[in-house]
Order: sequence, then structure tokens, then C-alpha cells
Amino acid sequence: MTLVEASGLTVRRGGQVVLDNVDLAISAGEIVTIVGPNGSGKSTLIRALIGLEPPSAGSVRRRPGLGIGYVPQRLHIDAALPMTVGRFLSLPRRVAPAEASGALERTGVPGVAGRQIAALSGGQLQRVLLARALLSLPEILILDEPTQGLDQPGTAAFYRLIEEVRGETGVAVLMVSHDLHVVMSASDRVICLNRHVCCEGAPKVVSAAPEYRALFGLGTGGAFALYRHVHDHAHDGAGDHEHHHGHYHGHDHHGHAAPAHEGEDA
Ligand SMILES: Nc1ncnc2c1ncn2[C@@H]1O[C@H](COP(=O)(O)OP(=O)(O)OP(=O)(O)O)[C@@H](O)[C@H]1O
Ligand SMILES: [Mg+2]
Repeated sequence: MTLVEASGLTVRRGGQVVLDNVDLAISAGEIVTIVGPNGSGKSTLIRALIGLEPPSAGSVRRRPGLGIGYVPQRLHIDAALPMTVGRFLSLPRRVAPAEASGALERTGVPGVAGRQIAALSGGQLQRVLLARALLSLPEILILDEPTQGLDQPGTAAFYRLIEEVRGETGVAVLMVSHDLHVVMSASDRVICLNRHVCCEGAPKVVSAAPEYRALFGLGTGGAFALYRHVHDHAHDGAGDHEHHHGHYHGHDHHGHAAPAHEGEDA
């Protein structure tokens, strides 16, 4: 069952094409991760899927009544706003204190219910936001860089928690991440976005393809290869309409992979 779907989604902002003809569908229970460099339109795509950004062309459909647990990339909390974590978790739906503390324990911040929300560290706030999203018992969790500000054990624990919750509740998860190495093992499907969908697929399928090495490679080199690949597309000009592909188009990533591969023709 498709929960949320974009067809030919195009978003223009300030005279720029931010998203170009994006097709995407998320099914119940899937864990899908969007990767791509800064400014590639990841947050805009997420916001458009939720209905916070109107499409310039194309469409977004959500299953009617779909329960969404959304954690934005940035949340500005007024330092002058007096609000405890416990109270924050009870907005907009009242949550029993035991339920709230259970969720906080689960996300690794037990005992912060009485603290001021504005006084939390970045990583603590991120965990509280996830607890709040989980408490809404969503059918889909939409998380924009949920591991930003988390330390390494926190990041690993986060992905374990996501898989655990999916196993228990069947929740679908759509997230944006820069943790490429963990993303490949923790996701059912990975989408590489650079204004358009550069490539997508199940990690196992993708990893068997020669293009996978060029895109993701191994270890840190893979991360560099990915970013190299997307930058090599040269999307800089506002009027650059060379790439109208909505899907994986299998162009030659091989030669772009890393300096070691440059000039090689496999
Ligand atoms: N309201 C707006 N007006 C003009 N440009 C915008 C607007 N919103 C987003 N953009 C531009 O759209 C592009 C994509 O932004 P977006 O925040 O979606 O990128 P991102 O992939 O989430 O980046 P990051 O990894 O830094 O979070 C950027 O070039 C940004 O400047
Ligand atoms: Mg973003």
C-alpha cells in the first residue's frame, strides 16, 4: 500500500529549480533513506511530501488520514519560552507521564521530562523530538537528518531503534541522512537526490551493480565518490535543464568514481 507518492514533482524557489521532475513512492513498513549533497533539495522534497511546500508542477498524494510523525531538520526553540520536556511531549495530544517517560527512555534520554526544552543540548533535543514523533503512533516517520548532533554510539543506537520500532509497529520510515555507510545497511531503499533522482534502489541490488561502486564505493572513499559523482553533474546554473531524468538513468558513473578510476573504461 502506498502511503505517500510524488509524481513529476517540480519545485521552483526564487527563480531556481530546486526539485526537477521527481517521482517517488513510499509503501507501508519501508525504510527509505534520501542521500545527497547540501542544497540538493532533500528538505524541500520532504516538506513537499508533507504538504508544507506547494509543487510548481506535478503532484503529491498522501493516503487520506495518514498519520505522520515529522521531525524537521531545524527547530527553533525560543530560549525565553518556558516549557518542560514533559509538557512539550503532551502537545498537541495529551500523553500520560508513564508513556512519556517510556518514550524518553527508549530514545536514550531518560529523566529529562522535568527539564526546560530550551536548556537541552542539540543531541538531547534530537532524541526528545524522536520520542515525540513516536508518541504520535504514526504510520510513517519522516525524519530530516535525525542523527545530526548525535555522537557515534547515539547514531548507531538510533538506527537500531528505528529498525526495532518498524519491527514492532510496521511504521514506514523516510529519512534524510549523511551517514552513508550505516544508511546502506539500515535501509530497504536508498534514493540519491541531486535536484532530480540520480539513482535509487535496494542496497543489495544496488551493491551488485557496477554503478554502486562508483556511487557508494567502500568506506569513506565511497562517501567522497558519491559527492564527487553528484557534483560532476554540474547543476550550478539556474537555467541548467540538462537533467530531466526522474529515475535511475544508468549513465556512466564509472569514470567519475574516484581518481583511481579516472580515464578507465570498463
Ligand atoms: N524558500 C526558498 N527560496 C529560495 N530558495 C530556496 C528556498 N527554499 C530552499 N531553497 C533553495 O533550494 C535548494 C535546496 O534546499 P534544501 O534545503 O531542500 O536542501 P537540502 O538538500 O536539504 O540541503 P542540506 O543538506 O544543507 O540540508 C537550496 O539551494 C536552497 O537555497
Ligand atoms: Mg536539508
